[in-house]
Amino acid sequence: MSARNQIRVSWTVIVTTCVLVGGPVLAASAENGKTAFVTHGCWQCHGFQGQGSVATSNGAVLSNTALPFEAFEGFVRGTNRAMPPFSEKILSSADLADIYAYLQSIPKPQDMSNIPLLKP
Ligand code: HEC
Repeated sequence: MSARNQIRVSWTVIVTTCVLVGGPVLAASAENGKTAFVTHGCWQCHGFQGQGSVATSNGAVLSNTALPFEAFEGFVRGTNRAMPPFSEKILSSADLADIYAYLQSIPKPQDMSNIPLLKP
C-alpha cells in the first residue's frame, strides 16, 4: 500500500471512530456553543465565560466543568432548584452539546504560583 493510501485509510479510521464513539459531544462546535450560551440566557446567571458568581449561580463555575456531558445534560434538563430547567423544546440537545464544547474550550486560568505579584 502506498504511503498516500495508508494516510487515507488512517484518516478514515480516525474520523469513523470519532463519529461512532464521540457522538454529539465530539461533533459539537464551541463557536455555535458560544452563541447558544448567549441566546439561551445562560450568561445572565453564569457570566459570559461561565465563571459564575456567588450572587447568581450559587458559586457554580461552568467553564472547564468536571461534569461529564451526561451529568451536565441531566442537570440542565432536570434541575428543580435555583436554576430553571431547560427542556428539549426550548434548548435542543445539539445546542446543549455545543454549549458544553464552548465551556470546555475556555482557557484554564493559570496557576497562582505562576503569577509573580502573588508570590510572597
Ligand atoms: C436564572 C439563573 C440561571 C440561568 C438562566 C441558568 N442557570 Fe445554570 N445554574 C444556576 C444556579 C443558581 C446554579 C446552581 C444550582 C443549584 O445550586 O441548584 C446553576 C447550576 C448549573 C449547572 C450545575 C453546575 C455544577 O457544577 O453543579 C449547570 C451544568 C448549569 N447551571 C448550566 C446552565 C446552562 C447550560 C444554562 C443555559 C442554558 C444555565 N445554566 C442557565 C442559575 C442559572
